[in-house]
Amino acid sequence: MKLPTLDDLGPLEGRSVLVRCDFNVPLADGEITDDFRIRAAVPTLRRLVDAGARVTACTHLGRPAGRPDPRWSVEPVRRRLAELVEGVELLENLRFDPGETANDPEFVDRLVDGHDAYVNEAFGASHRAHASIVGPPARLPSAAGLLLTREVEVLTGLRTDPARPFVAVMGGAKVSDKLGVIEALLDVVDALVIGGGMCFTFLAAGGHSVGASLLEPDMIDTCRRLLDGPRPIHLPVDITALGPGGRLFEPEAGGEVRQMGVDLPEGWMGVDIGPGTAAAFGDVIHEARTVLWNGPMGAFEDPRFAAGTEAVARAMAETRAFTVVGGGDSAAAARRFGVTKAMDHVSTGGGASLELIEKGDLPGLEALRGAPNVV
Ligand code: 3PG
Repeated sequence: MKLPTLDDLGPLEGRSVLVRCDFNVPLADGEITDDFRIRAAVPTLRRLVDAGARVTACTHLGRPAGRPDPRWSVEPVRRRLAELVEGVELLENLRFDPGETANDPEFVDRLVDGHDAYVNEAFGASHRAHASIVGPPARLPSAAGLLLTREVEVLTGLRTDPARPFVAVMGGAKVSDKLGVIEALLDVVDALVIGGGMCFTFLAAGGHSVGASLLEPDMIDTCRRLLDGPRPIHLPVDITALGPGGRLFEPEAGGEVRQMGVDLPEGWMGVDIGPGTAAAFGDVIHEARTVLWNGPMGAFEDPRFAAGTEAVARAMAETRAFTVVGGGDSAAAARRFGVTKAMDHVSTGGGASLELIEKGDLPGLEALRGAPNVV
């Protein structure tokens, strides 16, 4: 699994280095709303600049359709990057060219042209076998950036050598989206904690009525099989539910909000774990020595349903366990509740962190291990 590091590139004075970053940041009206991924790449960029390299960064942003689209220009990223580190050039959105997602060799040729070395600092995109991820390492001496190296060390360490008890707290909308990673985790964790929208399919598998909550009927048998497995799976013991007529993010629409047990009446939608569950999940997190958290416990962007996710974030901040937050929504929640600094690791990868935990490898990592400077 060992990846080439920046040191393996040798002296960089006067050499031109292409750095693939994942600057796929959220934008609202052309403004960056969270620059976490940009800040996370700065140590590597600064180190290369300080070593005397000429540094060209590149990234994708959003999912434009393989042609220039001003809505997805990297201009806001370029401005923010210039504030954080001097002397780094940033190419325009890689996905403005169809060759990027198609992994077209001619696009790779154009990308590496004029560069002496390549650094992959795009952990969040390393599960994509796209041109800028898997192409350059076949042509240039290559290395993993500092962030990528740390992500791989922490996330693969969870599979191989976690301090025990190791607990995974999973949330998010659908079981089907996370089934692969849940099954992989059940092989290594001491307990699994399930909240978020996906808990209702598990509760239904346990014979509970879930009202108007999110439910994946075709996953009920799978959930039953998982619940019958050897590892304990902690499910909610109470639920915060929104009554008939209510709408998420629209308190003015009315609809009663009530704490309930785990059998919801018809028309009631479970939208957060209840206070008893939050306390119970907190206890499990406090007793653990390693905790992985992936996925919110409820619709936390609506302040009426933020309490469960906030309680998990606070328990993560307070436990003496080694704490890892998967990227995406849970990382955004950790930032929202101001607990990021209290975590041992907050991943910059959403899909990439899940895929690495599930499969133990990613196309971008495999490509780096095959680079010409790796002996
Ligand atoms: C992400 O945001 O998870 C990464 O940047 C990958 O983006 P993609 O899912 O559009 O490939």
